[in-house]
Amino acid sequence: MYPTEMEKSIAKLEATRERRLKETFPRLSLDEIESLLERFHPDFWAEGTRQLGVGPNKGDRAPKELADLLEGKSYIDPDQIDLGKIDYDVDVLIIGGGGAGASAALLAQENGASTLLVTKLRLGDANTVGAQAGTQAADRPDDSPAIHYLDTMGGGGFHNIPELVEVLVKDAPLVIRWLESLGVNWDKEPDGSMHELPGGGTSRNRMHAARDYTGLEEMRVLRDEIRNRELNVLEFSPAVELLLDSNGRVAGAILLDLETNELSVVRAKAVILATGGSGRLHYQGFPTTNHYGATGDGLVLAYRVGAKLIFMDTMQYHPTGVAYPQQILGQLVTEKVRTLGAQLVNTEGEQFINPLETRDVVASGIIRECQERQKGVVTSNGQCGVWLDSPMIDIIRGRGTIARELPAMVRQFTRFDIDITRKPILVYPTLHYQNGGIRIDASGATGIPGLFAAGECEGGVHGRNRLIGNSTLDIFVFGRRAGKAAAQWGKGVKPGSLSLEHIHRWQEETARAGLSSRPASPRLLPDYTRHEQTLASLTT
Ligand code: FUM
Repeated sequence: MYPTEMEKSIAKLEATRERRLKETFPRLSLDEIESLLERFHPDFWAEGTRQLGVGPNKGDRAPKELADLLEGKSYIDPDQIDLGKIDYDVDVLIIGGGGAGASAALLAQENGASTLLVTKLRLGDANTVGAQAGTQAADRPDDSPAIHYLDTMGGGGFHNIPELVEVLVKDAPLVIRWLESLGVNWDKEPDGSMHELPGGGTSRNRMHAARDYTGLEEMRVLRDEIRNRELNVLEFSPAVELLLDSNGRVAGAILLDLETNELSVVRAKAVILATGGSGRLHYQGFPTTNHYGATGDGLVLAYRVGAKLIFMDTMQYHPTGVAYPQQILGQLVTEKVRTLGAQLVNTEGEQFINPLETRDVVASGIIRECQERQKGVVTSNGQCGVWLDSPMIDIIRGRGTIARELPAMVRQFTRFDIDITRKPILVYPTLHYQNGGIRIDASGATGIPGLFAAGECEGGVHGRNRLIGNSTLDIFVFGRRAGKAAAQWGKGVKPGSLSLEHIHRWQEETARAGLSSRPASPRLLPDYTRHEQTLASLTT
């Protein structure tokens, strides 16, 4: 239920709906896009980033919150760790329990490696399960990997690394078939063909979905497969440092047991980082769609062993995060709502941006509407937003479409007495995705011998803006590739003696740069103490 003031604004929106049903808001020219992004996209707010003072990306800019962690000090005293006592000894260690980590573990095992998957929370506690709209793959007669390639490059502002995009789009149809063979229930047409929709910046219908809980369905089958094959999994056991060997190769990790606070040593011939994103660092104070563990741990671990990061100054702010009700502020309102026909409308009941521009453009348009034009709707908590006119979907596509295509969305709002088949949704951009990450090649190799990366913690695939449905694709394409490559790499490795010398070197480097007082990192869990203190002060 919306308060009276908001209902008044909804009445204006309803008054223009019939006219808007016949209107398509024009696409912006390249010049208009550039100017909109420069003025309103949070990536361009200079106070949000700073230069890194140490490490492989010294001199590059990164969000301040992340920069503090990349320059952070280790939790461990290397001299206190007994590297002679090895707790786990495997061919391939996979760090991360989402879609990328699970795919990597399965492919590493298929390629003959003994594996251990370790994860900070539980297997499947990851951004993968929050993915709603679908997974892109060009598998229809009017489409091709070449067209998918062009869409992806265009979405990323042509900054994407071409060799990574090439394998992303070429592997995509195979990934869809692989997931189906593991049990994913894709939405199908009555004739048995795939039900595929478009998205912002895509020129063809190639989004494969399971209603609006696609990632949850994908993770369900991966988790089952890991259990069926009895792969080794350690939960609540984040890695706090990587290990090298005497030959300078990555050769394992130090784990922290979150229940007992004990450290353990894993020796491995290859390590795959699949730790996901960093939305829980709440860059520039934004709320986030990300799961509780998304604190950028893999970036920190990789950085300390010398891996290069790419595009760390660009984040994706999903245009349609929940702006009301406050209890679910920042949660995802899937792009599929716009794909199905919902328009974005300001407080005057007018459209102000084409809803299927790429995400960076739509998010900037919404921020401009709230900040410069003052045509947003402001809630009693002071949160600004614009309307996403969801009831249009049933008007355009027939009653029952919303209930069928968006059951999770319907449920999310019904809990707050809002019926999105009849009332619009108030939205504002929310921190959604880390466009950049650890630089990899097409096999997931990072350039540091023995270290691979897959999924949201790697970068380069999406340039400076990812398209809808390309992240669930990325995790499977590069998870699978990294799993296979790591298993093959491991076959040629004879591990030298384990070493934490790089931590000594890191401490010296940060001390020389005057950064010894930086916080310990990786962060592991988000820091909400400030909010708890605020809450405590309100109640005393
Ligand atoms: O809008 C969404 O459902 C999100 C999809 C994605 O990030 O690919």
